[in-house]
Amino acid sequence: MLQKNNEIMKVAVMASGRGSNFQAIIDSSERGEMPNAQIVHLIADNKDAYAIQRASKHKIDYTVIESKKYSREDFEVRTLKVLQNKKVDVIVLAGFMRILTSKFINSYKNKIINIHPSLLPSFPGAHAHRDTISYGAKISGCTVHLVDEGVDTGPIIMQASLQVDENETEETLSQKILPLEHELLPRALELYCSKKLKIDGRNVSIITD
Ligand code: GRF
Repeated sequence: MLQKNNEIMKVAVMASGRGSNFQAIIDSSERGEMPNAQIVHLIADNKDAYAIQRASKHKIDYTVIESKKYSREDFEVRTLKVLQNKKVDVIVLAGFMRILTSKFINSYKNKIINIHPSLLPSFPGAHAHRDTISYGAKISGCTVHLVDEGVDTGPIIMQASLQVDENETEETLSQKILPLEHELLPRALELYCSKKLKIDGRNVSIITD
């Protein structure tokens, strides 16, 4: 069991769809593995996101702000209002499929974490598995990183890797990488929330006691 620091960080998750990474965080938290993190809210930008069912099941408050109904600015203003009301300390993008403006990112500078299904800086963007396979890469994996103003370019917190097999498809690769994501994201989040990450420009290191 991990040790609790004095201050528990309030975490909001932003998701657009299935929400299996959101579920991984919930499960890890319920197992007592994230004593320094409290999941306080889900923001879904799509009313059909399965992540909403997961929030309901685990009694986590959620807000649906449909991105297709608002301009990017309006969407972000509404989202920021919710996050500020809930006094959120850290935001996790868990399959959140929208690009955020620099205004939003700078409101939570170095306080937004994303999970991406490739070994960044290789294969950023929305088609990481497809791009990995068509490039012919032999190793892939996933990356947890802080979000900066670029697309999947922020400082890397943790990565995990695996082999890309012959005849791999987008689907098989995604299925192989997903369990790594589910393990890595809660670990990185707990390190962040327990203030065990030292962020020095692009370099993030884990502070060991
Ligand atoms: C994951 O592969 C994540 O790395 C990427 O989007 C996918 C979301 O899956 N950013 P889920 O919604 O967490 O199941």
